[in-house]
Amino acid sequence: MNILFVTSEAFPLIKTGGLADVSGALPKVVRTLPQYSGSIRLLIPGYNPVLAKLKNAHEIAKVTVLGQQCSLVLGTMPDSDLAVIAVQNTFLYERNGGPYNDAQGHDWLDNPLRFAILSRVASILASTNSPLPDWKPDLVHCNDWQTGLTPAYMKLVDHSPAKSILSIHNLAFQGNCHPGWLHTLGLPEESFQINGLEYYGQISFLKAGVFYADKLSTVSPTYAKEIQTEAFGFGMQGLLKSRADDLIGILNGIDANEWSPEKDIHISKHFSKSNLAGKKVIKANLQEHLGLHIDANAPILGVVSRLTYQKGLDLLPSIMPELVQAGCQFAILGSGEKGLESAFNDMAQRFPSRVSVTNGYHEHLSHNIMAGTDMFIMPSRFEPCGLNQLYGLAYGTPPIVTRTGGLADSVCDTNELSLKHHTATGFVLENVSEMSLLVTIQRALSVWKDQPTWKKIQINGMKQDLSWETRAISYLSLYNNTLEQ
Ligand code: ADP
Ligand code: GLC
Repeated sequence: MNILFVTSEAFPLIKTGGLADVSGALPKVVRTLPQYSGSIRLLIPGYNPVLAKLKNAHEIAKVTVLGQQCSLVLGTMPDSDLAVIAVQNTFLYERNGGPYNDAQGHDWLDNPLRFAILSRVASILASTNSPLPDWKPDLVHCNDWQTGLTPAYMKLVDHSPAKSILSIHNLAFQGNCHPGWLHTLGLPEESFQINGLEYYGQISFLKAGVFYADKLSTVSPTYAKEIQTEAFGFGMQGLLKSRADDLIGILNGIDANEWSPEKDIHISKHFSKSNLAGKKVIKANLQEHLGLHIDANAPILGVVSRLTYQKGLDLLPSIMPELVQAGCQFAILGSGEKGLESAFNDMAQRFPSRVSVTNGYHEHLSHNIMAGTDMFIMPSRFEPCGLNQLYGLAYGTPPIVTRTGGLADSVCDTNELSLKHHTATGFVLENVSEMSLLVTIQRALSVWKDQPTWKKIQINGMKQDLSWETRAISYLSLYNNTLEQ
């Protein structure tokens, strides 16, 4: 079974969020499963960092796609021998800025073309006209809206014999554009209808994938159910419900080579569930590094996040003064909505030895916040899976979360019963409100004062099987089911 895994980001080549973590780990782990035979290749746009980091890169073909000359560059990941094909086109992908937007955060205006080309290349590689006759995928695994047109091209344009799966990592990002793009994107007129890729008068890349893919998956069982409802379906709940038999939720895992307190290359001391001593050292180093008052008895609450409506962190600034008063410290890393950035920065100015705020993207600091803080805050309004709460569990940093999506599937609230059954791993809000966040953090703080009980919660979390190996087996059976369909 040959698999083409199509994605717009993959760690360590390029990362803006959890999709990169998944794309960097899942294909790598599937190919090592004893039950799997075949070869996997990852397909990604040739952004500057991708071209710079690929190992043994060499051109294997040239293709003209939607009027653009692209070169297909084959190489391997910098940290494994997973094969990667980068779609190279200087004009489309080699820009200063992010994969989706410019340095000011504005979406690239030609995103429809940039990601249609990625999608069309995937479809061509899975067709009988592929320029790579010696390697053909039996299955194309697409991820999020950026690859959503792939199943449409496979069915309607290239008449591909291969099967397709679309994994939805976040239904909020849909890749919608004006119908005037239809011709430029090489999409047949008849696809622009309700039983096709039309979505409220626009072309929707994500809807195309949801409609045309043979199978659908999303990144947690709870989110798979939520997206079939009006509250979480972003208008696609009806279509998703009609495809319920083809939709499965598989919880994400952790890449243990990157995110393990026993071998993390970013932290100054390693630790484990049988010896947590190193965590205290990292905490003291973190306090020093961030200019926080060095105090082992002050609980530090960590945040590493995109600062957007989804993440619910707008609930935090107004309750921070009360928590600082109660002795808490904050280590916040994130960027996004400017209003929220400045609300956090105001807190840091007001309480310089208690609140640290870092804007921007910092891989090294994110690992040290995960490892060196005492609790992790993630009050998301919706969360398809969420990886940071999984990292919190692995690093003995109990997460404080809302009961939604993957948060509901991975964190067990602390109460008498869950403590007795050794299942307590964190703290779950009753609802998404400032009051609920405050009360839940206060509840966590009162347990924190009882260190032997706190340690039990940490160890319960650290004992969870969060590995990709288990999840990869579920993906493999999804792959098998899709091929048998
Ligand atoms: P999402 O993909 O919705 O942003 P996830 O929890 O699935 O949320 O994944 C977020 C990933 O991005 C995690 O690996 C997290 O550590 C990382 N991350 C988010 N913001 C930052 C930041 N400012 N600096 C470094 N890493 C970040
Ligand atoms: C998205 C979601 C996040 C999920 C990640 C990886 O970015 O917002 O919840 O963990 O994709 O699947």
